[in-house]
Amino acid sequence: MTTTPIELKPSSSPLSAAEREAILADPGFGRHFTDHMVTIKWTEGRGWHDAQLTPYAPLSIDPANMTLHYAQEIFEGLKAYRGPDGSVALFRPDANARRFQGSARRMAMPELPVETFIDACDALVQQDIDWVPAHGGESSLYLRPFMIATEVGLGVRPANEYLFIVIASPAGAYFPGGVKPVSIWVSEDRVRAVPGGIGDAKTGGNYAASLLAQAEAAEHGCEQVAYLDAVEHRWVEELGGMNLCFVYENKIVTPELTGSLLAGVTRDSLLKLARDLGYESEEGRISIDDWRRDTENGALREVFACGTAAVITPVGMVKTAGGEWTQGDGQPGAVTLELRKALLAIQTGAAEDRHGWVHTLD
Ligand code: COI
Repeated sequence: MTTTPIELKPSSSPLSAAEREAILADPGFGRHFTDHMVTIKWTEGRGWHDAQLTPYAPLSIDPANMTLHYAQEIFEGLKAYRGPDGSVALFRPDANARRFQGSARRMAMPELPVETFIDACDALVQQDIDWVPAHGGESSLYLRPFMIATEVGLGVRPANEYLFIVIASPAGAYFPGGVKPVSIWVSEDRVRAVPGGIGDAKTGGNYAASLLAQAEAAEHGCEQVAYLDAVEHRWVEELGGMNLCFVYENKIVTPELTGSLLAGVTRDSLLKLARDLGYESEEGRISIDDWRRDTENGALREVFACGTAAVITPVGMVKTAGGEWTQGDGQPGAVTLELRKALLAIQTGAAEDRHGWVHTLD
């Protein structure tokens, strides 16, 4: 039961079925958007109000809107998949809703109730259900809930008005190569986040801060950048928009949450799923020297990136200022592929959901 009933004002001119199908045949990532969006306002003294589902449309923003100047913005990413019986389910929307609350606290923004977050996602997917790709492939409907300050003014303080929005975008593979291994540039001087900073909040500024290092990765012929900790420039943290997992003989290790990494929902799911599949899994500390040495001596078998958008993507090669190495044989590893298949099977309703992760729409 929603705390804020959503008024439905659907579009009178949604895209035709033929146009939609043409997009769904090759959606890419984040290039196309569905016919609707959900918006909910928050005003100091009044709380959450005016929840509406309306046609997808540009926003009208005052040039002195506080978000444009001081970046009070947070977002989430989650996916809806179609099951074998045609039903549609979101994957762990409660986990995204709770993380969204954590991001809001860190950015001095109001917390949206978990049920309201889920209701808004449900309402949008329900309305645009024909945009959820068919069962069978890896395509999904990617939801992007986000919140911005809407107060107008240039004073530096938390705003007194906000807008929560959910939009949806059909998504194929995040990386154009699909499960093709990605190459990683390890940035040893630029950092993504600092202790006490905002690295564990999903806020646009963290992504803006990653763009220059990402461009440097491209200059070194790499597709992604990996960050080290900001104090010792030694401990591996995460990629610009994904967590990292390291596969030892029978164990999956992922960098521990020190406060400067994002607590990925896929990361958390894999720690549990790996145990279901008979592996040990743990959070730990891995230095860049460990990464290189354990690859060279064969103890570190595979490395992969994980995130909602990227699902699980193998790492094939690593470059640092001091040298480079091939990860394993440079091909997707067996454990990486096994975990990927198991996760996608749960997400797409093809395998049993033992953890209560799948939220099926009525
Ligand atoms: C996600 O995986 O959902 C992300 O937010 C990563 C990126 C697309 C920003």
